[in-house]
Formats: sequence, C-alpha cells, structure tokens
Amino acid sequence: MQASIKYIRKELAGVYPKEEIEGFVRLLFQHLKNYQLTDLLMKADEQLSPEETEQIKTIVDRLKQHEPVQYILGETEFFDLPFQVNQHVLIPRPETEELVQWILNQYAGTSPTILDVGTGSGCIPISLKHKLPEANIWACDISEKALETAQANARLNDTEVHFFEMDILHPQLPEAFPALNVLVSNPPYVTESEKEQMHPNVLEFEPSGALFVPDHQPLLFYRALADFAKKHLSQTGSLFWEINEAYGEACIALLKEKGFSNVQLKKDINGKDRMIFATCSTI
Ligand SMILES: C[S@@+](CC[C@H](N)C(=O)[O-])C[C@H]1O[C@@H](n2cnc3c(N)ncnc32)[C@H](O)[C@@H]1O
Repeated sequence: MQASIKYIRKELAGVYPKEEIEGFVRLLFQHLKNYQLTDLLMKADEQLSPEETEQIKTIVDRLKQHEPVQYILGETEFFDLPFQVNQHVLIPRPETEELVQWILNQYAGTSPTILDVGTGSGCIPISLKHKLPEANIWACDISEKALETAQANARLNDTEVHFFEMDILHPQLPEAFPALNVLVSNPPYVTESEKEQMHPNVLEFEPSGALFVPDHQPLLFYRALADFAKKHLSQTGSLFWEINEAYGEACIALLKEKGFSNVQLKKDINGKDRMIFATCSTI
C-alpha cells in the first residue's frame, strides 16, 4: 500500500495542493478497501492486488484531468448521508447543507409538505426526509437522468420521496398535488459571464444545465419559483432558496414585489449572501 500512496503523492504533486492530495489518498482507500486513516498507518505494508493497483492508476489519471473525485468514485456525502453522483447531477455543496439546516431549524418535529425544485442528486429532499420522517416530500427536475439518480439515492438512504419530471419555467403538476408548506430550491444561478472565474473541474465536468442562467436573466428561475409559490404554497407556507451571492438584494426586491412577507437573507459559512427565506402571509 505504501508504494501506491507514494505513487499518488508523486503523480499529483504540482497538480493539487498537498492537503487536497492527502484528502484524495484517504477517499481512495476508503472507497477501494473501506480503510480509515488509522488503517492506512497500521496496514502500510499490505500488498495491493494488481487490479487494485490498476484502479488507482486510472483514478490518478482522471484526477490529473481535473475530474472531480466525487464523479470518479461515483459517490459523495451530504448531511452525513451517502449519495451516488454522476455527470447528470451537480455535486452537492456544503452551502446547500446550510440551506437544509435552516429548514430543519424551523420545522423540526413537524410533518410539513415540501417540494424541492431542481433536485439533482436528491440531496435536499432525501436529507429532509431523513430528519423529518413524517414529512410529505416531493421533488422535481427537468432532467430525467438526474431523477433516475435521485431515485437511486432515495433507495440507498431508505427514504420515501415523490419524484416527478417538471420544467419550472412551464410547470405542469401531477394530479392531486397537495398544497405546500415549504418550497425549497437551489436552481441554476451562475451567470454566463461568471464562467471565467470558475475552475475547470466545474466547467468541464458538471452539467451546465444545472449551473447557468443567461446574463440578461439572472433571476429567471427565481421569478418562476415566486409565481409557482404564490399558487401552490399554503397561506402559512414559506420558501427557502439558495441564491447567487451577487443577487441578494435583487431577490429581496423580487419577493417584495410579488407580495411575500418576512423576507430574510442569510449568509453562508464564508460570509456570502447565499440563502433567502420568505413567507406568504405576514404571520
Ligand atoms: C444547481 S442544481 C441543484 C441540484 C441539487 N438540488 C443540489 O442542491 O445539489 C439545479 C438543478 O435544477 C435542474 N433544472 C435546470 N433547469 C430546470 C428547469 N427548467 N426546471 C426544473 N429543474 C431544472 C437541473 O437539472 C439541476 O438538477
């Protein structure tokens, strides 16, 4: 094992910072052999099979091409739960965990009806259902392939979520769709002109339909979500959205213009305007 660890460190030096390479070493051996950090030390002399050595080479080659390690291994964690990921879904981000936590802070111990729009891997509804087992949870996406992945993740985590295909820009709901207590969404919100500042691992590997909006319509999805919320949230319902840090004030103005109350902007752990909340009524 020692020789393989040396190989990983040598091949990736100069491509990634040292700490990141150590992170890859841990993830790789956890994935291949279910080894934790202590196993790496205790079993350093263990011989890997030729297949394992070959697998490590392939993974290192893909890492050198800047492919995200989560796609290479096909898995990640969100809210301490395992999720399968692939090129059809965005890799769940820590900021989105903060959005889920904000909802849980308000709805712990209750059984709300919730819809997640643009569910991707299903990370939001599945972690909500895990923490709110009595909740009635729905989730939609425009991408059939993303929905397949989300469904697989619901099975993996033994949670019941009602998934359906829908374009939020032209919404058509399943029959007997219930009134909602919560509308949550992390829609595409990166403007085309922000592409230049993005890392190749995001640009070349993550699905562009999950990320981008045209420069001239940065609030495209938020407008559609606000109109949808007006129709389908119950009188005491609320919405929770992840937002582009540059459009916090614009989102506040949009929600006020559409008649929402109690509008609150929240910063993420990095101090950036990242989430917004609003209610239908003033109570
Ligand atoms: C930023 S990703 C968020 C994925 C996941 N909710 C998360 O937080 O990791 C946005 C998602 O919205 C979906 N999407 C894009 N356009 C859509 C549309 N018009 N209607 C519904 N979903 C859409 C994408 O397929 C993608 O899964």
